Amino acid sequence: MTLMTMPKAATQDRPGKSETQTMKALVYQAVGKKAVENRPKPEIAATTDAIVKIVKTTICGTDLHIVKGDLASCKPGRILGHEGVGIVDKVGPAVTAFKAGDRVLISCVSACGKCVYCRKQMYSHCTTGGWILGNTIDGTQAEFVRIPHADNSLYPIPAGADEDALVMLSDILPTGFECGVLNGKVEPGCTVAIVGSGPIGLAALLTAQFYSPGEIIMIDLDDNRLAVAKRFGATATINSTDGEAVAKLMKMTGDRGVDTAIEAVGIPATFEMCEQIVAAGGTIANIGVHGKQVALHLERLWDRNIDITTRLVDTASTPMLLNIFKSGKIDPKLLITHHFKFDKIMDAYETFGHAADTKALKVIIEA
Ligand SMILES: NC(=O)c1ccc[n+]([C@@H]2O[C@H](COP(=O)([O-])OP(=O)(O)OC[C@H]3O[C@@H](n4cnc5c(N)ncnc54)[C@H](O)[C@@H]3O)[C@@H](O)[C@H]2O)c1
Ligand SMILES: [Zn+2]
Ligand SMILES: [Zn+2]
Repeated sequence: MTLMTMPKAATQDRPGKSETQTMKALVYQAVGKKAVENRPKPEIAATTDAIVKIVKTTICGTDLHIVKGDLASCKPGRILGHEGVGIVDKVGPAVTAFKAGDRVLISCVSACGKCVYCRKQMYSHCTTGGWILGNTIDGTQAEFVRIPHADNSLYPIPAGADEDALVMLSDILPTGFECGVLNGKVEPGCTVAIVGSGPIGLAALLTAQFYSPGEIIMIDLDDNRLAVAKRFGATATINSTDGEAVAKLMKMTGDRGVDTAIEAVGIPATFEMCEQIVAAGGTIANIGVHGKQVALHLERLWDRNIDITTRLVDTASTPMLLNIFKSGKIDPKLLITHHFKFDKIMDAYETFGHAADTKALKVIIEA
């Protein structure tokens, strides 16, 4: 990243705040190891930065991948977390949309708004931003976080909004919607299958219903998550543990398959399942983060007129999702199963990491 530096005196600091304060933060220490550490409170490093005091944050499946050592870009010593809501503590002199005291939603993607990718609303590939929070720069699982490109990476919180629910708009709702529903071309009356009923698959399920698809079939190994999917509007569910999921889905769809097959797990078996269940003329929309090579069966698919899409969430849909949330047409709070205070964040990881036993979906961690 090449962010401009600036003299410290130019920041709009709040009176009475010390620059040498320390804070508690959840740090990825080594493969398999994380702990709460005392860290210096972040400071404004570029004129476009804001420092935000975290009010609520959460843990993403991606954080678990990082701790397992699956993500080479995130090095030991990093404060994790890329979701949350907070209160602006101070801003750099080039920040014009926010001021100290504003309550804000933090996007998991930081965007300059000016580079070639940002001009295409492909914020995830911003040349000085993208998904950097809790990855290549320190993240939100801390008392304070530095947000680069604050004007384009924060959103004002609507007055009186439920801030627990808003945490779901940092990452999972835009991810399910953009990578799954938009890329998957979900439209009225169409048939959709979502493979993976975790928070991301469920976010795709909630947002797919904006378009009134005729059928939404959820596939997972976990009966509890499938029961949740049923409550969230799935028209049918399939537990794929017995290896019969493809046969069952084909039977349900009169041997046609589905118009949209959304992959929301990130392993070869589930992508290959999407290849088997996509109907002629349909779309496979991949959301999962894949760490292993996956087979593309062109010997079966070459004449099927299908599209295959991939995407890193851009959060370009956040303003629209905020409007839908304000209208009450979607209740992201449905995804929240547990609450913890920040000093119990290690317990929150334990609960989230054992979702099959704890029935956890999203856990809220509050200051
Ligand atoms: N593309 C992006 O920008 C983006 C953003 C965020 C997350 N992701 C990825 O999306 C994926 C889903 O995220 P999540 O937080 O919901 O993960 P998760 O691990 O909580 O959920 C995955 C679900 O898949 C199910 N599953 C596992 N193996 C299965 C199988 N063989 N058949 C059917 N179901 C199976 C699990 O039971 C679980 O319910 C992950 O790979 C994550 O890294 C991608
Ligand atoms: Zn995430
Ligand atoms: Zn940019």
